[in-house]
Amino acid sequence: MAAAAATTRTLASKFGYPNGKNRHSNAPPPTLRFRVQRRRNAAAAITVTATAAAEEEAAEIRRCLSPARLEVLDEMEPWVESHVLPLLKQPEDAWQPSDMVPDPAALGAEGFHVACVELRERAAAVPDAQLVCLVGNMVTEEALPTYQSMANRFESARDVTGSDGTAWARWIRGWSAEENRHGDVLNRYMYLSGRLDMRQVERTVHRLIRSGMAMHAPASPYHGFIYVAFQERATSVAHGNTARHVRECGDVALARICGAIAADATVRALAYMMRRRITMPAALMDDGRDGDLFAHYAAAAQQAGVYTASDYRGILEHLIQRWRVAELEYGLSGEGRRARDYVCALPQKIRRMEEKAHDRAAQMRKKPTPVPFSWIFDRPVDVMLP
Ligand SMILES: [Fe+2]
Repeated sequence: MAAAAATTRTLASKFGYPNGKNRHSNAPPPTLRFRVQRRRNAAAAITVTATAAAEEEAAEIRRCLSPARLEVLDEMEPWVESHVLPLLKQPEDAWQPSDMVPDPAALGAEGFHVACVELRERAAAVPDAQLVCLVGNMVTEEALPTYQSMANRFESARDVTGSDGTAWARWIRGWSAEENRHGDVLNRYMYLSGRLDMRQVERTVHRLIRSGMAMHAPASPYHGFIYVAFQERATSVAHGNTARHVRECGDVALARICGAIAADATVRALAYMMRRRITMPAALMDDGRDGDLFAHYAAAAQQAGVYTASDYRGILEHLIQRWRVAELEYGLSGEGRRARDYVCALPQKIRRMEEKAHDRAAQMRKKPTPVPFSWIFDRPVDVMLP
């Protein structure tokens, strides 16, 4: 699952919708605003807008959960069987965490000791900012039970009995089994590196799994699979960027680990098939000390070049191109065409926002703020806070 950042949440919440409404803004749309002005009652207008938006949203979710729409998922079963399931690796063929970190059984006591010393020497060269991003990504991966539960809420795709034979259910279980290696290998590397306050990291994982995640339209497979596709791509980008940075610092072992996770996520993104709010999988991250931990981790990721606004735009461009959204025409209603045009225009809007943010930052000559992270024994990392 994804190791993305609040950049996604922040950017997603900036934009409105095809009909011109912005669900994340308190400002009412023009027609309602006019009505409000006539009534001279702004508070009432906001209530009306919120109600209209909620009704529209509920109607959309109802449509996604209608028998006809769910039947599409049933009809896709043979396609999932022949095109998606083959993407899963056999346990014997897949890399396992033991392949990536020193294995005491294979190396013997002395060999293991030497390999651990080497790992620690290389890890010593990784900057704190990259370490913090790595922990944030690892914590996100470790909350896997939440994500498997989430996938099992998708109507027509979920694993009803826990051992269903349907292609969708086998995909969910196979995906989880492969995912499980990601948190494991990162956890093991971190433990051996000796650079982290593992108890604080473990408490953060514990809290995140207890807190769960807020998912928009949790029963809708349409919302769910698009969300997962986005997150898989974001994971691939974040781990790929980390691999590049730590390789430059000389930690080739960590670069190999992050590269392997990134490659897994790229394959999965191809398997899945955005518009509403994107709630990040680890948005409820909490270490028991920093009340704004997720925002600080996200700022560190932006600052360290692990996951940035440009990456967010790149993911959108990739998915729009991959799914040929701009070419959609046949059978589209007026609403569908507006939605298509809205989605296709998003990357350009984000680019303009990036340019504006860059100009503002330059004008204000903002200085970074040192933020202590408990994961690295409260050492501060310089981040640009909004
Ligand atoms: Fe993962």
